[in-house]
Amino acid sequence: MRLYLKPAVPSDAKSIDALLTDHSRAHTGRGSPTGVAKARLRTPGTVSAIVAAADRRAIGFGHVWRDGEVARCLVVARPDVWGGRPIVAALVSFAERRAVSVGAGTLKVHSNATDSVLGDVLASTSFEPVTRISRMRVDLASRPTSVAPPPGVDVGRFDEERDSGEIYAVAHEVFPEGNNEPAWWRDHRENPLRPYDPALWIVARRDGRIVGFALGSRRMEDGGPVGYLGGFGVRESERGHGIGQALLVAMMDAFIDRGFPAMTLSVSTGNRTGALSLYRKFGMTEAPESTEWMKRLG
Ligand SMILES: CC(C)(COP(=O)(O)OP(=O)(O)OC[C@H]1O[C@@H](n2cnc3c(N)ncnc32)[C@H](O)[C@@H]1OP(=O)(O)O)[C@@H](O)C(=O)NCCC(=O)NCCS
Repeated sequence: MRLYLKPAVPSDAKSIDALLTDHSRAHTGRGSPTGVAKARLRTPGTVSAIVAAADRRAIGFGHVWRDGEVARCLVVARPDVWGGRPIVAALVSFAERRAVSVGAGTLKVHSNATDSVLGDVLASTSFEPVTRISRMRVDLASRPTSVAPPPGVDVGRFDEERDSGEIYAVAHEVFPEGNNEPAWWRDHRENPLRPYDPALWIVARRDGRIVGFALGSRRMEDGGPVGYLGGFGVRESERGHGIGQALLVAMMDAFIDRGFPAMTLSVSTGNRTGALSLYRKFGMTEAPESTEWMKRLG
């Protein structure tokens, strides 16, 4: 079979969506909604390529973008084509060349826990594993016992008009790596995997200023919707006094109000801020999800 690598164009979106769905089903048990490829292809400042077969069907997809000082990439291939290895190798090499050309000093990529082909290619091309990510989940069969925030702190719904100007600054303080404000908003407002729903955003305020946040959304998993906690943090000076617990309980309540049967999230197994023990305390169980790899370039 003759294969070739070419820039991805909007007319490839349908074929890429089919590839992403099959890949996601194979590695996570979840599909990938239609529209993900289109959203990726039209994100400014990013570049994509596909490995196509003679019939133009995408059998591999690579997407590279700048995130602050680093470049990140997604690499996906159909495992049924020669084990996928040469396709993955070609896409990783494309991503590296692209990252070098935009002047990034580091390239980062995630491999699914079951995607041994990508893991092998990365290990054999001098990428180093830096973080293991776990998927955590808890069934929301019953409401958690309510937890009051510490004195002086209120926990409530995010108010778009009032809070939109402040939330990025707090989120960026908690997660300083990468991203600028437009990219952060794009990731939260235009990600078809977790549609933007500010009614599922919870904030903690002290004296009216945001000191913590839990950013929830609906996400399709195993054929049905669950509540997905996609951002969770408390300002460093406010940690260890129960704000995180109060946010988590409010988040679970909001998901239960929506009728979601479970809450899920992703967390680094190396998290040193007590997040894992907090999640376990609320009955969350974990399974390996992915590994983050990095390579210094140039
Ligand atoms: C994870 C995070 C949100 C927790 O927020 P927090 O406000 O510190 O959380 P809490 O205070 O409710 O609970 C944290 C710990 O403090 C303890 N704690 C709760 N109330 C307390 C109090 N009054 N006094 C002292 N400690 C207290 C809790 O028992 C918990 O410890 P444990 O779970 O190990 O038993 C916060 O540490 C954070 O922002 N981390 C960085 C961002 C991050 O990693 N987010 C998660 C990504 S998946």
